[in-house]
Amino acid sequence: MSELTGLRALVTGGAAGIGLATAQLLATSGAQVAVLDLAPDDLPAGLRAYQADVTDDISVRSATDAAADALGGIDILVNNAGIGAIGSVEDNDDAQWHRVLDVNVLGMVRATRAALPHLRRSERAAIVNIGSIAATAGLPQRALYSASKGAVLSLTLAMAADYVREGIRVNCVNPGTADTPWVGRLLDQADDPAAERAALNTRQPMGRLVTADEVAAAIVYLASPAAASVTGTALAVDGGMQGLRLRPAGQ
Ligand SMILES: NC(=O)c1ccc[n+]([C@@H]2O[C@H](COP(=O)([O-])OP(=O)(O)OC[C@H]3O[C@@H](n4cnc5c(N)ncnc54)[C@H](O)[C@@H]3O)[C@@H](O)[C@H]2O)c1
Repeated sequence: MSELTGLRALVTGGAAGIGLATAQLLATSGAQVAVLDLAPDDLPAGLRAYQADVTDDISVRSATDAAADALGGIDILVNNAGIGAIGSVEDNDDAQWHRVLDVNVLGMVRATRAALPHLRRSERAAIVNIGSIAATAGLPQRALYSASKGAVLSLTLAMAADYVREGIRVNCVNPGTADTPWVGRLLDQADDPAAERAALNTRQPMGRLVTADEVAAAIVYLASPAAASVTGTALAVDGGMQGLRLRPAGQ
């Protein structure tokens, strides 16, 4: 039996990219898994689909309660749903700021609020929030997105403090640029997608993008009883982008 056998997980934004890879790894590791997504269509067999928008409190609460009913509870919440934004602080209007913070920060607040009554009944409760390298490094043209992910990092620490005495662990994973549909869409918008991909690869100390499966492995570790003493941490899965300072190749 895997150590996730008997655990029940809810993954927001679990229909694509990092969320889908996480939902699949949780399932193959023995958990029962529900996916909450705007468009949870064509999910692989074994994943339960719940349509909800994390900006809509009522839809999050009803999807979360329906998932908990179907699974018999919730032990693991993965707050993964998120959207991007490009530009400096001058480039996004107030509506865009409200929209991105609503999805990326308040979305986690809503899903957590809805899941907490169920997590409190679990003996092995864990929340994993998905942050970003943008929370810990200054990236050009990412002012709004970075602000939202900086908030996720601080929110993770505050939530970890609030719930540690109730036995609910809270951590976050900070991915570097990962090869997901999102990054595919970004590349499609570039004048020269191949050159843009090469630039992103070169920015990574490992010379390649992170994979969704690599991020999922870190999320599943933090969600699992193997991480029973781990709370209030941020685990970077970024190919060394945050921590390393390399000399130019060949020097
Ligand atoms: N891909 C990267 O390079 C990268 C890097 C760092 C952090 N992240 C973070 O990882 C998470 C997932 O990113 P991804 O690249 O897998 O994205 P993606 O766009 O490939 O998938 C995101 C999923 O979230 C869902 N979603 C979006 N808005 C939603 C909403 N309002 N309500 C419910 N579901 C919603 C989408 O339908 C989609 O299924 C995000 O929080 C993102 O900020 C991604």
